[in-house]
Amino acid sequence: MKTLIIYTSQTGFTKRYAEWLADRTGGDLLDLKAAQKKSADYFKGYDAICYGGWLMAGNVVKAKWFFEKASDWKNKRLAMFCVGGSPNDNPDVDTFLQNVLSEEQKSYIKVFYCQGGFNYEKMKAPSRLAMKMFVSTLKNKKDATEKERGMAEKMSSSYDISDIKYIEPIVAHLKGA
Ligand SMILES: Cc1cc2nc3c(=O)[nH]c(=O)nc-3n(C[C@H](O)[C@H](O)[C@H](O)COP(=O)(O)O)c2cc1C
Repeated sequence: MKTLIIYTSQTGFTKRYAEWLADRTGGDLLDLKAAQKKSADYFKGYDAICYGGWLMAGNVVKAKWFFEKASDWKNKRLAMFCVGGSPNDNPDVDTFLQNVLSEEQKSYIKVFYCQGGFNYEKMKAPSRLAMKMFVSTLKNKKDATEKERGMAEKMSSSYDISDIKYIEPIVAHLKGA
């Protein structure tokens, strides 16, 4: 079973998950920029392809690229993993997982979520600014719920809640379990 893991990552969490996945599956690892330069023939030799992107305002970064390619890869085992700052047990994660794929895409792509974290030191300036604004809006919201206040507090500084255990269901899917 030949496996390919493609990822895009700004601050390193998605990259780390992609590396863990490549290691566990014995697969090849490719940054999205490198993958975009490959011809269609390059992907023909792979039985399983997995795309990983981080979550930005509820969207998976560059998922559109993967979805377009995936429509030609329906004979392969396909997975997409998404990495965000929310913990796996956040109910918003379930809603997101249910809505990220169309009914048709669900028949050939399986989607997973892996909790990552925030790394303000590695974030590019526009991302850092967007997050600072989001956190300050949440902090100043008059009728903020307990949950929102907790979120704002947590997101105001860097944290790492990533864990290799979250790759297990993805590995099982890619291996055909
Ligand atoms: C502008 C911006 C928007 C974000 N939106 C979300 C979001 O909607 N949901 C979420 O769980 N995390 C969100 N995050 C957090 C990132 O997805 C998280 O930091 C992730 O671990 C980054 O992955 P990376 O290290 O591979 O770049 C956002 C981060 C930034 C900078």
